[in-house]
Amino acid sequence: MQHLIRGRVLDFHADPADSDDNHRYLPDGAILTEGGKIVAVDDYANLARPDLPETDHRPWLILPGFIDPHIHFPQVQVIASWGAQLLDWLHTYTFPEEARFADSDHATRMAGFFLDQLIAHGTTSAAAFCSVHATSAEALFTAAEARDMAMIAGKVMMDRNALPAVQDTPQQGYDDSKRLLEKWHGRGRQRYAITPRFAITSSPEQMEATGALAREYPQCHVQTHMSENLEEIDFTLSLYPQARDYLDVYESHGLLSERLLLGHCIHLREREIMRLAESGSRAVFCPTSNLFLGSGLFDRDGLRKAGVTTAVATDVGGGSSYSMLQTLNEGYKILQLRGQMLHPLQAFHWATRGNALALGMQDSIGTLAPGSAADLVVLDARATPAMAMRMERAETLSEELFILQIMGDDRSVAQTYVSGRPMKAGRSPASG
Ligand code: GUN
Ligand code: ZN
Repeated sequence: MQHLIRGRVLDFHADPADSDDNHRYLPDGAILTEGGKIVAVDDYANLARPDLPETDHRPWLILPGFIDPHIHFPQVQVIASWGAQLLDWLHTYTFPEEARFADSDHATRMAGFFLDQLIAHGTTSAAAFCSVHATSAEALFTAAEARDMAMIAGKVMMDRNALPAVQDTPQQGYDDSKRLLEKWHGRGRQRYAITPRFAITSSPEQMEATGALAREYPQCHVQTHMSENLEEIDFTLSLYPQARDYLDVYESHGLLSERLLLGHCIHLREREIMRLAESGSRAVFCPTSNLFLGSGLFDRDGLRKAGVTTAVATDVGGGSSYSMLQTLNEGYKILQLRGQMLHPLQAFHWATRGNALALGMQDSIGTLAPGSAADLVVLDARATPAMAMRMERAETLSEELFILQIMGDDRSVAQTYVSGRPMKAGRSPASG
């Protein structure tokens, strides 16, 4: 059945950093949906028909749903854990918590909660790390499929330097990953990501196994972490003494490609930057996490200049918010400290089409193009009294977007559509 969703419509067709002709804004626009897909986007007057059911979101903004390309599903009860940097944080808080995901009832309860949180924050797709247990990936995919939500996910492979309860072996990691991949990759909107956690927790034998999987399934993403923290880098290089640098651990196992998503990429050497650019591997900026764990300041402009494709993500629970708006807020501040600017148009492009491009999924998500998924976020820049007061003095779309970027969170997400279905216990504009 067709449905018309009316509001102030905004989407992007180019990166505002590259082109002045980068977005489309329809002050009284509408999105025609059918069967979970977008059929047309135009001025409301051109699409309205008396027989068509419609939902009116004016004066709110409607954009493609946010995409979170790096998040940890088993860390919903790790977020906001005090006082540690990366390696201590992993051992003190994260590994013990992830151990609980061996229990499929726990994993199922957390998976439903996790996806509902994403939706509450306007995020309609994510690339998620699960725990080492196949049960955790089963739980997440099952919950995502029930919501018809496009998820990229994989069980982490990790066979050393962690609690025994969160370790697999090279063979078990390979076998479990392959079985999950065969079952879930390409089933509806689900995609499997081969997920070696990072070099520290994978032996050379396990890295071999991840390389073998990546060669067998070149259509699958590979997600991991790199160069987040200085101690992490030193430890990694001591564990892989033959590696030229951190990236070389992944490179020498055949993992570099346009499908490789590397969380963090903060402390990079010249050779690494060059090879990231040449191989098309993606660098994923995780602002709230990088501040929370005291990891460092991402060099967006340096990477961009070298030709590296970047994405921006929450990294919950190292990250401290599920909100892509709050992620862009902290991203703005990190770039300020670097002497770099994040214009609001660039920010909203990044969290939608930019992240879709980094995932190679720009035809189906992060866009309002006909044929793409009807995954939408409806944003209210007057969601709180402080925002409403600030908005009295906003005159342009960019100012409104910046207020959302700096002051917004889940309260600003008036509605989230996944595959054409409204998923949030909605507010109506009339009820404020
Ligand atoms: N490096 C390896 N595992 C993790 C994780 O769970 N979170 C973060 N932020 N970095 C990691
Ligand atoms: Zn992470």
